Amino acid sequence: MGRLLEVEDLCVHFHTFAGTAKVLDGVSFRLDEGETLGVVGESGCGKSVTAQAIIGLLPRPPAEVVRGSIRFGGEDLLRKTEAEMRALRGTRISMVFQDPMTYLNPVFSIGEQLTDVILAHRTPGPPGALGLATRRWNRTETAEARRTAVDLLRQVNIPDPGERLCQYPHEFSGGMRQRVLLAMALAGSPRLLLADEPTTALDVTIQAQILRLLRGLIEARGISVLLISHDLAVISRSCRRVAVMYAGTIVETAEIGRIFRAPLHPYTQGLLRAIPRNVRRQQALEGIPGFIPDLVVPPPGCRFHPRCPKAMAVCREVKPRPVEVEAGHVVRCHLFPGADGGRGG
Ligand SMILES: Nc1ncnc2c1ncn2[C@@H]1O[C@H](COP(=O)(O)OP(=O)(O)OP(=O)(O)O)[C@@H](O)[C@H]1O
Ligand SMILES: [Mg+2]
Repeated sequence: MGRLLEVEDLCVHFHTFAGTAKVLDGVSFRLDEGETLGVVGESGCGKSVTAQAIIGLLPRPPAEVVRGSIRFGGEDLLRKTEAEMRALRGTRISMVFQDPMTYLNPVFSIGEQLTDVILAHRTPGPPGALGLATRRWNRTETAEARRTAVDLLRQVNIPDPGERLCQYPHEFSGGMRQRVLLAMALAGSPRLLLADEPTTALDVTIQAQILRLLRGLIEARGISVLLISHDLAVISRSCRRVAVMYAGTIVETAEIGRIFRAPLHPYTQGLLRAIPRNVRRQQALEGIPGFIPDLVVPPPGCRFHPRCPKAMAVCREVKPRPVEVEAGHVVRCHLFPGADGGRGG
């Protein structure tokens, strides 16, 4: 399988009134063609910021990319101009978000919004040309876009798509709105879909439906997905591989089965103890004591050390490097030889 996305040593700072928050601290991971990679981690660990950096939607300012590269299909996205990124969004990389209502306009019908997206992707001209503002669509074009819209709604399992097109976002349920957003994200036939907590706002049964739909679409279209969630159970249903994130760093990457059977990083072990499945065995839900650190003054060394039950002296001083403990299983923790970069210990 070819490599589609490769994020290397990505460091992002946010300049805030409280000081500079070192939000991403050397994020590295790769995503192959047709693969769905899960990204899991507590609230505030930098999952959304990572996705925003990839699709070029970091608010700048206050955000600043300090270091790193984001290679997509062989090109470094961080070197692209805003016009080039605009041309790429939707057609090569798309994103779906947690809260569909924020991204749907309440005063336009679902059909108007969906056909707008479809027509925008068809705008001829050089990358980044603002076709929509200057170009009027003829009847054949709008009729064809409408047919495409109906087809897309059908693909995301919306019943009676023809009639539904005339309705407004408030007439759709939360699950259906998320399906519409998915249809919009797929309208430009992207190679990569960034799904940022796509099911978090939904109840469990609808969540399962959307995940099943997402899996079906991914398989049918062969697209690659970065599935972001704070819920390992959601990830385990959709991904073969998962990256565990803590305070701006990927601390462990492995196949999902290995993460469940043999988690190596103490943070991953804590996350697993916080999953309700263990409660059935009369075990209390432990969770991880403490909070994510203040990223304006992050702890030196390993950022997890103040909460880590296995912290050693070296953890307070040296930032651990990634160690490939087994093929495809990488961990950043001083419990594993080589993490100190050969300083010994
Ligand atoms: N626009 C911003 N200005 C300042 N700080 C920001 C901004 N956006 C994000 N951050 C900070 O970056 C850090 C990571 O945020 P991010 O939204 O990526 O977390 P997350 O892992 O997606 O969390 P959640 O699970 O709650 O969505 C947080 O500490 C947050 O406060
Ligand atoms: Mg987020």
